[in-house]
Amino acid sequence: MITVLSDNFSLVNTWINELRNVDIQQDRLRFRRNMERIGEIAAFEISKDLETEEIEITTPLDQIKVTEVAVQPVITTILRAGVPLFQGILNYLDKADCGFVAAYRKHDANDYFSIKQDYLTCPNIDGRPLIVADPMLATGASLIEAIKHLLNHGTPTQLHIVAAIASQQGVDTIQKEYPNAKIWVGVIDENLTSKGYITPGLGDAGDLSYGEKLQR
Ligand code: URA
Repeated sequence: MITVLSDNFSLVNTWINELRNVDIQQDRLRFRRNMERIGEIAAFEISKDLETEEIEITTPLDQIKVTEVAVQPVITTILRAGVPLFQGILNYLDKADCGFVAAYRKHDANDYFSIKQDYLTCPNIDGRPLIVADPMLATGASLIEAIKHLLNHGTPTQLHIVAAIASQQGVDTIQKEYPNAKIWVGVIDENLTSKGYITPGLGDAGDLSYGEKLQR
């Protein structure tokens, strides 16, 4: 199942436009905040899908039965570009536990790349919804690698994948690998460059959030 958050116009479209705009995206604070906002909207949508339970609460005047999230999710992301989108999801699903994966693209002499994962910290995800935030779902290779390692920490009840911008190829790859995953994307772009960048895309989400890195 895939939901494209910009299909019906809302402020999400404005935030994506600002993320893409070569002038506005230079404002790092706004860039990170717009990523966060997309994460917040995705979290709100995901919350409608979570398992619920009835609990009793006491107000100053009475006791009532209300509906609540039954099992708190685990929110994860891939360092470093995923942090602002992740933070947006956590802003709303604020009782969740969190996990982090560090992965990078290792380029060879021909500029082909493979994904190297070198750090993972994650709570038990057994019996809980797992949310993975990846702002730019390009080839899907780093996401698949991250999810593969995360799933060593248990079997989640649901798998939610959140991206601000996805390529059609990335979406197809993820749907093939994880047919039961629920995918929430800001927008889908048609193309990928030979270097695995989404086009029109927005450029390098990590550099735009935190400054240009030295390492390729
Ligand atoms: N990561 C990015 O930051 N941008 C892309 O277009 C693809 C992956």
